[in-house]
Amino acid sequence: MVVVAVAGHEMWIPLLLLPWLWLTFVPGPHVAHAIKLTGLRVPKYAILGQSVRLECPYEMEGDELYSVRWYKDGNEFYRFVPRDKPEMQVFPQRGVSVNVHNSSNNHVTLETVKLSTSGKYLCEVSAEAPDFQTVSQHGEMVVVVLPDEDPIITGGKARYQINDYVRVNCTSGRARPAAQLAWYINSELVDPALLRRYPTIVSFPDQLETSILGLEFRVKQKHFRRGDMKLKCLATIHNVYWKSNEESVENDKPQKAPILESRKSGLSSSSSSSSSSVTRADRVHAGNGATGVHQDLDRILLLLCALFSLVLVTSHHR
Ligand SMILES: *[C@@H]1O[C@H](CO)[C@@H](O)[C@H](O)[C@H]1NC(C)=O
Ligand SMILES: *[C@@H]1O[C@H](CO)[C@@H](O)[C@H](O)[C@H]1NC(C)=O
Repeated sequence: MVVVAVAGHEMWIPLLLLPWLWLTFVPGPHVAHAIKLTGLRVPKYAILGQSVRLECPYEMEGDELYSVRWYKDGNEFYRFVPRDKPEMQVFPQRGVSVNVHNSSNNHVTLETVKLSTSGKYLCEVSAEAPDFQTVSQHGEMVVVVLPDEDPIITGGKARYQINDYVRVNCTSGRARPAAQLAWYINSELVDPALLRRYPTIVSFPDQLETSILGLEFRVKQKHFRRGDMKLKCLATIHNVYWKSNEESVENDKPQKAPILESRKSGLSSSSSSSSSSVTRADRVHAGNGATGVHQDLDRILLLLCALFSLVLVTSHHR
């Protein structure tokens, strides 16, 4: 059996290697002289006010570089030509502000991005004579306005009884694009049937958007873990913003008086447990004080009795 299996592997390995051998050693168009863009990097999302680095690495494959050009929405804003003096040229375009101290042949840095910086960015690399070959790649970038505040939860109560309705809202801070909201009960994403969707509020004139997502359900025993239920709202904007808010809710059981009493005594004993030795000493001291008062009262009573009998005796004698 073993021998057969090994023999099988020996048959398979050369078969699997065949396509690799073909790609490596059979000449084709992919090994001809050709500029190669090796990893254009235009971030999908940039944050308002921050700077952004666009990268356009390339391999000349034996050719000579003539130029690297960058375009936003079809308009050239940056040119790098090694033969020219200066090598670098910047053309004003709406929403684009190039930091020339941090730009070169294979990257450009855009300073303090604005909403108008969003757009399609294209990098184009050209070769010198005799090939004059030109290659390009592009990517879309969206400028994001982060929310001005964390998501907030409203409408909740501190305690719920079984069969009560929970009706709460989660409201994001003003942002662009609008934050995506999600509700979790005890860290579990809730059933969409429990969600109440409301239209996004667009503020004027900045066009920032506020999202609201409601959660509505009837409380069941299963919602409480050790008498506690956690309601969490998570707000996200693509992969650049991720903030949550959580509220802890107690199970408010209708309880009978004795249970409440025992709970109270339990509480008072636990509150003094941190200084139990002191408390005990206090109690002993208090006990002594009480007996002291008692003894004094006895004496006063005795004295009063004596006085009373004396008065009785003297009045009787008259
Ligand atoms: C250039 O950009 C990099 C990262 O984007 C940054 O660390 C560096 O400080 C910048 N240099 C200048 C001169 O602005
Ligand atoms: C949640 O927000 C919506 C839209 O503003 C509102 O109509 C609704 O009354 C709110 N619900 C709660 C429980 O606050």
